[in-house]
Amino acid sequence: MSYDLVIQGRVLTGAGPKESFISIEDGIISKVSRSHPGHDVSVTKHTNGLILPGCIDSHVHFRDPGMTQKEDLTTGSLSAAFGGVTSFMDMPNTRPPTLDLKSFLEKAVIAKEMSYIDHGLFLGITPASDHISVLDRLKEFKSGPFPIGLKVFLGESTGSLVFRPIEGIAKVIEDAIRYHLPLSVHAEDGDLIAQGGMEGKRSHKGSLARHMLSRPADVELSAMNRVLNAAGPNSSAVHFLHISSKEGIERARDSGASVEVTPHHLLLDLKWCEANLELETLAKVNPPIRTTADRAALWDALTSGHVDVIGSDHAPHTLPEKEDGENIPSGMPGTETMFPLLAHEFMERRTDLRLLQKVLCEGPARRFGLEHKGCLLPGYDADLMVIDPKDVRKIRAEDLHSKCGWTAYEGFRAIFPTRVYSRGELLVEDGNICGHSGRSLDLRTRE
Ligand code: DOR
Ligand code: ZN
Repeated sequence: MSYDLVIQGRVLTGAGPKESFISIEDGIISKVSRSHPGHDVSVTKHTNGLILPGCIDSHVHFRDPGMTQKEDLTTGSLSAAFGGVTSFMDMPNTRPPTLDLKSFLEKAVIAKEMSYIDHGLFLGITPASDHISVLDRLKEFKSGPFPIGLKVFLGESTGSLVFRPIEGIAKVIEDAIRYHLPLSVHAEDGDLIAQGGMEGKRSHKGSLARHMLSRPADVELSAMNRVLNAAGPNSSAVHFLHISSKEGIERARDSGASVEVTPHHLLLDLKWCEANLELETLAKVNPPIRTTADRAALWDALTSGHVDVIGSDHAPHTLPEKEDGENIPSGMPGTETMFPLLAHEFMERRTDLRLLQKVLCEGPARRFGLEHKGCLLPGYDADLMVIDPKDVRKIRAEDLHSKCGWTAYEGFRAIFPTRVYSRGELLVEDGNICGHSGRSLDLRTRE
């Protein structure tokens, strides 16, 4: 496959954005230069364009197989691509859950056939999947697609994958280290949640506050402490997902573990949701949206360099499910709006976009061992997007591509990419899809 091309636009550097020429051969960046590289090839020039690496969304729930009425690997990956995401990592709480070789390979076949962009798949770990040890389970993967990481839920969320007792995690961490696999941890202490038992059920209004109270910051902090105690010197294998509270983000600092925050915990808080969302439950997520002070603490950690990764936790449910009074599921879509919303927010706060690039591109690449993704340098995959920072638009659900058809960010301002390339192939141009599904590679094995 050869898509030789040269793309001209501004690239972020320590000395500000610099006009550059990015030469691409066989889907890989071959040269980044300040002047025309002299190849006999036409240059695609992006006036006003800022070129950034494609984002790596290391936390999505694309619902395929088993819940494809909410999302499937085609609509999920398409939605990601429109938001400048060129690689994703899918969580194991599908149906069947991705807990063993068989379910993993079944999902890998679907991803290969249906995805527009490169993908990695998590292997879920529960005590039930553990009657065979994690090590023995990983040994079953001989060749072909391999897990991008391991995932544990310590508290109940969508699906029934709960790891109990939490202290059993010590052995999982040892096995993860043998395979150089990060262990992505949903850090909510299931024992504490069960003691609280205050989860709001029937009504819509006020239910978000009840949800927050049912899973308070203590629940997060307790799970983090128990995991870190169990991990001991092996805490570097731990990747804490969607840390949402002031206490949690402060605990993560200097813990040796890496930390992810999500766009929704950065951009939403309870007060705003209660005042502005007609249907509050759109913002019902686990861990919950919290207070203005929690949100500020997450921004402090982010801007002072203590966040490794931003992941979307894209978790679509259907609108009727979110409107239903009984047992409203937690989760919201977000992979398509992640970069556009944050790019706009960074511009508003006058925060260096290189920091955003760090947590959305380089950070996840480094954390998940992807040596060929996340940077605009020779030898890296030509996954990139072009944005016009002045092209600010309002988000409208009808313009988005997730199958669920709704967003909690209706009317928010955002900067969507005008072009997205995946391994040198033009995927998205001015709101239209140009590429095709079935061309994606497994991030771990590049097959
Ligand atoms: O809000 C959430 N939704 N949190 C999770 O941990 C799971 C996710 C989902 O899969 O719906
Ligand atoms: Zn998640």
